Amino acid sequence: MRVIETKRADERRLRASDEAGEEAFASGEQTRAVVLCPVLPRRSQKAGSAQGQLQPTARQHDEARLGEAVGLAHAIDLEVCREGLVPVPRPRPATLFGTGKLEELSGIIRSEEAGLVVVDHPLTPVQQRNLERSWRTKVLDRTGLILEIFGRRARTKEGRLQVELAHLTYQKSRLVRSWTHLERQRGGFGFLGGPGETQIEADRRMIQERIQGIKRDLETVKRTRELHRESRRRVPYPTVALVGYTNAGKSTLFNHLTGADVDAEDLLFATLDPTMREIRLADGGRAIVSDTVGFISDLPTTLIAAFRATLEEVLDADLILHVRDIAHPETERQLTDVHDVLRELGIDPDLQSTDILEVWNKVDLLDATARERIRNAAGRSGSQAVCVSARTGEGVADLLAAIEARVQGGHELLDLDIDPGDGALVNWIHENSEVLSRDTNDIARLSYRIRIPVEKKPALLRRLSETASTAVPA
Ligand code: GTP
Repeated sequence: MRVIETKRADERRLRASDEAGEEAFASGEQTRAVVLCPVLPRRSQKAGSAQGQLQPTARQHDEARLGEAVGLAHAIDLEVCREGLVPVPRPRPATLFGTGKLEELSGIIRSEEAGLVVVDHPLTPVQQRNLERSWRTKVLDRTGLILEIFGRRARTKEGRLQVELAHLTYQKSRLVRSWTHLERQRGGFGFLGGPGETQIEADRRMIQERIQGIKRDLETVKRTRELHRESRRRVPYPTVALVGYTNAGKSTLFNHLTGADVDAEDLLFATLDPTMREIRLADGGRAIVSDTVGFISDLPTTLIAAFRATLEEVLDADLILHVRDIAHPETERQLTDVHDVLRELGIDPDLQSTDILEVWNKVDLLDATARERIRNAAGRSGSQAVCVSARTGEGVADLLAAIEARVQGGHELLDLDIDPGDGALVNWIHENSEVLSRDTNDIARLSYRIRIPVEKKPALLRRLSETASTAVPA
């Protein structure tokens, strides 16, 4: 049997690295990795709904998967020296690959002097150990790779703790052999490294102790975050959460939406998680936008569980912005994957009551015909998607208007005319509504434009009727 189409990832980079040889390896600059994408017998696959895009064939899908796995490997600074799709007609419980394939791959790995093999598929601990023994190299499966990346991306203390917890739990069953040079190389948690065989029991105990420690730390961090959330709930601004497949452009859009607005008023939220910012809507109203961790297909369940708390921002949001890379050939599959993760979080994207606005990003990458097709599809789509380019800013004004229209639902704009001496009323207004403007020119009257949740309006009207104050729709 032959491995199909493994290819040298970058001949030039490979030559340069060969020249640098052992020196670079020893200094831990970059680890040479082989990325393998096993192609198992296909189960019948659901066809995605075509939104003005042609669906990729199974073959294109496999190649896209391989491309994604290579991208993930690059994300942890691995030097991908060889990559390939590997047909696995009969998956073996002990090694996943059959004997012949195992040997063939072993030759490739040796000739490439690879220090790591990434298998873009879940491996059981036994499979992982057997492959490592057979190839005499460290093996990382898709879950391990994703955990590694999340470890690097986690920005907040809580995020880092959660990833470390997920990783240790995963790692506990996989303490198999000594392999340390990546550990030296990357610092951080050193997840890629592993203890020596003789240390396994002691290390397992240490891991267990560390897990207990992390759980305690997490409790403290969670309590603090809950306090922040409580104070945010008291601020009557709508909240908008960004979700999306990894690389869809969430952070770029987040910066675009919020960048122009990081001003003194932002201090109001200085205590919030740094991934939260205030944005100004067109009518002078505000919303709080939160960026969240990127989703990916086959997101490890342990990680979803670990990130549940962080993703509670999504559960709490008044509006979910689902950012999609609409120029990606796998955009439909990514949509399905994101919906799957949302369902795991307890959000049903198919329910009418779930307020999701799709943001079709990266339209700048489409040619004129494709752009037209996508625009028409956006208008037709049930979710009334908005087409944008977070890079050029195209469509962002439309997006802000769409956000405004969505979060406005459930709120009403009112112009108030009240007695400035009525301190209790003034306080109530500030606590229960969002004050958009305030006019104090007339010392006898105070004029407000407010946005108030509809359920609070009757209470306001009752209070106003007790005084000589008025309210009219703005
Ligand atoms: P994760 O952190 O992996 O979840 O990714 P993300 O969704 O936050 O994506 P990010 O904003 O990091 O963007 C990913 C890549 O896409 C970056 O290289 C961006 O520059 C690029 N990008 C984002 N938006 C656009 C866009 O509208 N057009 C183009 N051409 N590129 C974009």
